[in-house]
Amino acid sequence: MTLTSLPNWVWVSYSAVVLSVHRSALSLLVAVAILSCLSFLAYRLFLSPLSKVPGPWYTNISHLFMVYHDFNGTKRLWIHNLHLRYGCVVRLAPNEVSFASAAALKEIYTSAGGYAKTELYSLFKQNDHRNLFTALDKKEHNEKKKRLADRYTNTAVLHPSIQEPLRERGEAFAKVCGESESTDIYLYLHCYALDCVSAMIFHPYGTKSVEGGSDHDMVRNLSYHDSRSALVLRHHYPWLEAAYKSLTPKRPSKGGKFLFHYAWSSMRASPHSDFTLATRLLQHPEMGMEDMVAECLDHIGAGIDTTGDALCFLMWELSQSHNAERMQRLIEELQTCDPEHGGRLNQQPYLNAVIEETMRLWAPGTLPLPRYVPQGGRVIDGYYIPAHTIVSAQSYTVHRLDQSVFPEPDKFLPERWLEEKGSVDRQRLMFAFGSGARSCIGKFLALSEMRILLHSVYSRYRTRPAADMHASMEMSDQLLTSRPKDLLCKLTFDRLIRK
Ligand code: HEM
Repeated sequence: MTLTSLPNWVWVSYSAVVLSVHRSALSLLVAVAILSCLSFLAYRLFLSPLSKVPGPWYTNISHLFMVYHDFNGTKRLWIHNLHLRYGCVVRLAPNEVSFASAAALKEIYTSAGGYAKTELYSLFKQNDHRNLFTALDKKEHNEKKKRLADRYTNTAVLHPSIQEPLRERGEAFAKVCGESESTDIYLYLHCYALDCVSAMIFHPYGTKSVEGGSDHDMVRNLSYHDSRSALVLRHHYPWLEAAYKSLTPKRPSKGGKFLFHYAWSSMRASPHSDFTLATRLLQHPEMGMEDMVAECLDHIGAGIDTTGDALCFLMWELSQSHNAERMQRLIEELQTCDPEHGGRLNQQPYLNAVIEETMRLWAPGTLPLPRYVPQGGRVIDGYYIPAHTIVSAQSYTVHRLDQSVFPEPDKFLPERWLEEKGSVDRQRLMFAFGSGARSCIGKFLALSEMRILLHSVYSRYRTRPAADMHASMEMSDQLLTSRPKDLLCKLTFDRLIRK
């Protein structure tokens, strides 16, 4: 008897058996998949160490929610609202937690040299060179910092050889702004910041972009870029970046060839003034020219938007009619201080209070500064956080959350900084320039630039919003920083009549 001659009922029963075996294998597979998913969810939701950390349940499951906000530029406010709801500690993703207390700042950024930076900082490498800002390894960072830290100390920055070129730039700014009925200070403040930081790095080969010319193009390339979404993709899903770029209109990226050529030619030019960063770097030929230029480019990048944006928010706020008395108080203080004849701008109490309050409200580095929890895990703000979890704090929240320290946190109240009471607590929560070994090396330069500029302007002018100013001054986010949304801020400068 051949197979084909088998009766039909045998074939039917045979097929039924095969089908049921297949079905049960499939059911088994489905059951295993469902069980794995459920165990994964149960682990993430109830058993993982981070499940005990406060936060919305969905942040236990995936980091996609956080990436979505990062991509759309809503991360700062998303995190801030979570802190308002859950308190000082909030889970942002299955492997990421945000903190907002002074104790957490100390633990994460200061204790034992601070925790290590995450790979997010690699996005800021200059032509593939790691520099002070992007060094992830502590030893590498220490070596780099040792080479150049003396350039940026308060004493070094206050030396007349540096103060003089900065003051000259402040005068140039005040002159240009006083010449027209409506001045876009967003543009000119970024020019001023570029001119100051490039003087610090390359003097006498600093830029003169306040006066315009080809140096303006560098500012256009540096301060009008929009690279957030592409950088977010490069960090989380590098394979998506090229597709995203090809599908969206071409956006300017930060930097550009003008800046690159400028840095190379200024590094090669000589002699540089003794106080410059270039002088110090050239004393270390083992670094190689490419590394030196990369370091300079990094300081230019770090020094222009930060200082420019902070000054822009400050002058806009001060120009509002509800701040008329504050502007008057500042004018009176600055008119009686003459830095060219021994007047000390860093000792003017109201000027310092105005700057502190600006840095509290609009410190441009508003977004989280991420770090890895070291081996062995750590207890932070009472929660055990396992090793290699990403932890961070963002200045926007740290400067607003604790209303016993900062009452009416969203209001511009420079006077709060003049009160003795609560001063220690306020300082413990100031995070505008970061904290610990990785805090801002350019802090004293930035503060000095701000004081000089405010003196140049408010010892001569009163300012008010220009009649043709219709742009939004809302904060808008890049990857680590926030800036005025429309990249435009028009003011009118009214000359003061000296008594
Ligand atoms: C208002 C002005 C500024 C603000 C708010 C600001 C803010 C910051 C913050 C928050 C950090 C720490 C980042 C982190 O921990 O991840 C930082 C680092 C840094 N900043 Fe600034 N910055 C300003 C101006 C400047 C200027 C003018 C320079 C120019 C030299 C500069 C150069 C740097 C460098 C090189 C680092 C890396 C330091 C290190 O890792 O050791 N910054 N800045």
